Amino acid sequence: MALLSRFIVAAFALAATVQGAPQDLGQPGQPSSDPCARIGGQKWVAPSEVRACFTSVRVNETVKANILDVINKTLNFHTSTNYQIRAPQPFTSDVRVNLPTELERIKRQFYRSEYDFHVDLSRTLKRTNDGHAAWTFACYDSLFVNYVPTPLTLLTSPNGTQNVHISPEAFNVSSAEFPDQMDVWQNALPGRLNGQLETLSGSRVLLINGRDPFDAVNANTLITGSYQAFGTRQNAFFSSYQRGNESWNYIMGNFAQQSLPLSDTVRLTILRSNRTRPETFVLPYRSRFGSQSKSFTDTASWRANNCVAQPGTNGVDRNSNDPASRLAAVEDPMARYQQQPPLPPALAGKYPLDVLIDSSPLSNVVLPEELQPSLTAVNGSRSVSQFYLLKDGVTGILALGSFSDTDYNELHRGLLVGLLNLKSLGATRLIVDVSNNGGGYVCAAHVSLFVSFLSNLSNAIGLEWLHRIIVGPKSTSEPQAGLDTKARAGPLARSIVDELVKNPKLDPEGFLNYNPTNWRDANNVPFNASTNWLQPVVTKTVNRRPDAFSPRLGQECQPDGFPYAPPTEPLFDPKQVVIVSNGRCASSCSLFSISMVKYEGSKTVVLGGKQDVAQQYCGTVGGQSTNFRGIDTEIKTTKLKGHPLAPPDLLVNGGQGIAWRLAFGVTDREEPEEWQDHPADLNLPITAKLANNPVAIWEEVAAKLLS
Ligand SMILES: *[C@@H]1O[C@H](CO)[C@@H](O)[C@H](O)[C@H]1NC(C)=O
Ligand SMILES: *[C@@H]1O[C@H](CO)[C@@H](O)[C@H](O)[C@H]1NC(C)=O
Ligand SMILES: *[C@@H]1O[C@H](CO)[C@@H](O)[C@H](O)[C@H]1NC(C)=O
Ligand SMILES: *[C@@H]1O[C@H](CO)[C@@H](O)[C@H](O)[C@H]1NC(C)=O
Ligand SMILES: *[C@@H]1O[C@H](CO)[C@@H](O)[C@H](O)[C@H]1NC(C)=O
Ligand SMILES: *[C@@H]1O[C@H](CO)[C@@H](O)[C@H](O)[C@H]1NC(C)=O
Ligand SMILES: *[C@@H]1O[C@H](CO)[C@@H](O)[C@H](O)[C@H]1NC(C)=O
Ligand SMILES: *[C@@H]1O[C@H](CO)[C@@H](O)[C@H](O)[C@H]1NC(C)=O
Ligand SMILES: *[C@@H]1O[C@H](CO)[C@@H](O)[C@H](O)[C@H]1NC(C)=O
Repeated sequence: MALLSRFIVAAFALAATVQGAPQDLGQPGQPSSDPCARIGGQKWVAPSEVRACFTSVRVNETVKANILDVINKTLNFHTSTNYQIRAPQPFTSDVRVNLPTELERIKRQFYRSEYDFHVDLSRTLKRTNDGHAAWTFACYDSLFVNYVPTPLTLLTSPNGTQNVHISPEAFNVSSAEFPDQMDVWQNALPGRLNGQLETLSGSRVLLINGRDPFDAVNANTLITGSYQAFGTRQNAFFSSYQRGNESWNYIMGNFAQQSLPLSDTVRLTILRSNRTRPETFVLPYRSRFGSQSKSFTDTASWRANNCVAQPGTNGVDRNSNDPASRLAAVEDPMARYQQQPPLPPALAGKYPLDVLIDSSPLSNVVLPEELQPSLTAVNGSRSVSQFYLLKDGVTGILALGSFSDTDYNELHRGLLVGLLNLKSLGATRLIVDVSNNGGGYVCAAHVSLFVSFLSNLSNAIGLEWLHRIIVGPKSTSEPQAGLDTKARAGPLARSIVDELVKNPKLDPEGFLNYNPTNWRDANNVPFNASTNWLQPVVTKTVNRRPDAFSPRLGQECQPDGFPYAPPTEPLFDPKQVVIVSNGRCASSCSLFSISMVKYEGSKTVVLGGKQDVAQQYCGTVGGQSTNFRGIDTEIKTTKLKGHPLAPPDLLVNGGQGIAWRLAFGVTDREEPEEWQDHPADLNLPITAKLANNPVAIWEEVAAKLLS
């Protein structure tokens, strides 16, 4: 219990730890004695009630062993396991977790409930601070989402000092999103604050639970995961925005939104605007039933609908005649945790993907109208990509919330049309806003084949396309507009490739990641079906452990991965391009930003990070991500499920993500880009006027970096 306790002590969010006496499942009893029946069918409940349900189920040792076996064996395919034991500088103090040893610890440890086990397991994986390597379990993660109506922002005052504030737009956001719960919070406010929630917006926060607000911010950095850099994990505490596929979305931040029922209340000491005396009050957290959770009425139906393995949890043999096991027909139940809009089932799993996983599904809270860009969207705008021209007439904007879309061709075309239109309107410089862009598709070697096969049902937007069309054809964009990569070459990975080389009929369409025909060598020459691309295996000692990787892989996007011919001239001078985000730009977004910055000299801005903390413009680079279900499909299709290193089928509604390919660096070409430095050029101070106001931010960035 030692490690878990340390985190509980450290984590502000765990003010309320797991409690309650576990019961045996399936025990007959009166309905009223079932703590899950109390919350079943309810929209809003108290977090303590959710915990009472969660902690009422004991660990089933068979299930626990199964989960650990699946994760342990899936991590053999994760490129970064040995690197993450101790990451190189500048991330040595951020990433230090020996997952094989930790899994052994968890295996031996006793837990009072399955929920306690899940919290420890989930946080252990999160300690990689690698958003590709998360463990998600829909039984608990965001089954109910825990909220307070006061998201926070780190504001810089006119004299330059930084303070935590209740976001100026807090009341507007909450009253629109939680109309059926505002009374509870209004009535919880004491004395003359009663019913005055609106007047809290913008207040300076002096104390959180009686302590400096940054105690809570920093405690959260230990459990939030996803990004290597400390500053980026601090930023997770605060509110932010993102361009969604249908609207401008508002991200509440980890203070106001929790994916587990961690906190029951928070005690805030604040200074309201225009007041001189601090005021202290307690606000309750309230848990709302998750938008993607399956409804239930009691323990048995909670378990059946949300906790046990679902169709799609496990991989399939793609050559099976059983129609029910056709991957194309079944959605990945864990796709909800990917930080990109969901894709049609026929396509998910098809394209090389590099995307972040988070225990909170993507936000569908809407940015208040007053803060949404009021500029006219320029032609070419669609879905997650929107184009605007600032009032100065020379600064073009591309707001890009993701690298994914339901229409592959249209999104590629939209990017080109939008940039061309900006130019024709007079733009000579470009701001790309990738706030909270959790990635998406890289590009696929076989896109053209697949697109003609499935027509326009496709979905990937190549980060490499965007780099290529902005900078034009040059040595850094043709044929490789991204970064070279390597995959891990453990014994089972090698056996999978051996089988595919021996018998190409196992995967004639090239659906499998291990199919040689999907990749090219370091000189960008395609492998043929009989090339064993993992050979000769490159052995390497990583943190004093022997490890094995594929030879270096080149690009797989050009020329046939792009649905349109790219222009022959650059669209913008890359030195007149600025990439803006809150640092939370991952995966494909990182690959794009790094290419633009390190090859082309573009500038970067992080919004409102703490002044004395180094700000990274992106994180969780990866190269290509997949998950247990994807690996299981590779294994089953090559008939290797009997291999001693093959993970068993997972018994629960969970998923384990991994980085399947890892990109090589730009500065140090022989080491992964993942743990190389990505310092932002500017940490933009956020004033009350700029907070979550994209247009005001873009104008400020243009004035500071593009004149
Ligand atoms: C534990 O889980 C296994 C697999 O789902 C199941 O067969 C077994 O009945 C469970 N044991 C108990 C005590 O519930
Ligand atoms: C993980 O797998 C290794 C063998 O590859 C084994 O030695 C170790 O005990 C396993 N750990 C767990 C927690 O099952
Ligand atoms: C800066 O301004 C804040 C309020 O805006 C004030 O609390 C603080 O004392 C000021 N600091 C200095 C050094 O003037
Ligand atoms: C909140 O909403 C009110 C009323 O619509 C509006 O006047 C105000 O500007 C909004 N404030 C923010 C910060 O969005
Ligand atoms: C946007 O994503 C949602 C799921 O988050 C999906 O239901 C919807 O169809 C998508 N809309 C568009 C226009 O792609
Ligand atoms: C605070 O005072 C300023 C100047 O008197 C005024 O403009 C502003 O509206 C006040 N803010 C609030 C929240 O009352
Ligand atoms: C944008 O497209 C619409 C219809 O496609 C067209 O009518 C309009 O003229 C275009 N506007 C610009 C500025 O190109
Ligand atoms: C995809 O749709 C576009 C129009 O949106 C069309 O021009 C193109 O031919 C379609 N591609 C395929 C492969 O059907
Ligand atoms: C496949 O590529 C290998 C080199 O990797 C070459 O030796 C072999 O002849 C090629 N086979 C075919 C059928 O083209």
